[in-house]
Amino acid sequence: MSKIVAIANQKGGVGKTTLAINMGACLAILEKRILLVDADPQGNCSSGLGMEVVSGQPSIYDCIINNIPASEAIRPTATPNLSILPSHIDLVGAELELVSRLRREYVLQTILAKVRDEYDYILIDCMPSLGLLTVNAMTAADSILIPIQCEIYALEGLQKLKNTISLVKDHLNPNLRIEGIVMTMYDSRLRLANMILEEVRTNITDPVFQTIIHRNSKISESPSMKAPVIMYDAASTGSMNFLQLAMEFLKKNNDEQKK
Ligand SMILES: Nc1ncnc2c1ncn2[C@@H]1O[C@H](COP(=O)(O)OP(=O)(O)O)[C@@H](O)[C@H]1O
Ligand SMILES: [Mg+2]
Repeated sequence: MSKIVAIANQKGGVGKTTLAINMGACLAILEKRILLVDADPQGNCSSGLGMEVVSGQPSIYDCIINNIPASEAIRPTATPNLSILPSHIDLVGAELELVSRLRREYVLQTILAKVRDEYDYILIDCMPSLGLLTVNAMTAADSILIPIQCEIYALEGLQKLKNTISLVKDHLNPNLRIEGIVMTMYDSRLRLANMILEEVRTNITDPVFQTIIHRNSKISESPSMKAPVIMYDAASTGSMNFLQLAMEFLKKNNDEQKK
């Protein structure tokens, strides 16, 4: 059965979607069967892989609101072993539509339970809020991966995120763990980035991944090529960083890649 990892941070632009797409793709290249779940109405995870939903095609919205099985909405991507449950802008309305639903926090968990056996890891790309959709992702997940940008105010909001994780753990999902913090968009030329790295490593009690994702132009270009960076420019620093991160993740999970 797959491990479900929600990628969450209520701040926008910290690298959640980039992490979901690229760690997902690198795990897939390492022969793990991966499902990406785009749980953000913006749908950047879907569009970044060229998987936009056009009208008439099912998306995560239909699974949540119209009880369509995930298997009908999931699609393979151009990267082997990498599939996606795509999003649609309609998802904006889902939080409101869910409010009156019984067990409204468990909807995503129920949807994913039916496809869990087909994947090694399911990565959920959360939206930048701590609303009901993100709570659904945290309730469905085994662990939370938190990207933090190597910028000033990096740690602002982390406590609030951790409070939400604690609430979910106490009331909805007692087995929820913090997978770790991933430092993103690191610029070695900036003294500030190094100071922030230092600050995070000394002040945070949660596990911090050794691998740091550098700021790299190939990473920011790849969504417009509709591909993960590893498929777009395999030799780039960005590709190396995400491959390293995927290997560190597998090692942490006692799941080293097949020889
Ligand atoms: N390591 C990186 N190097 C360069 N650009 C990055 C990197 N990580 C993210 N970006 C860019 O920063 C922007 C925000 O990243 P994104 O993953 O969409 O954040 P979030 O999903 O948290 O809102 C995007 O334009 C993305 O391409
Ligand atoms: Mg995003």
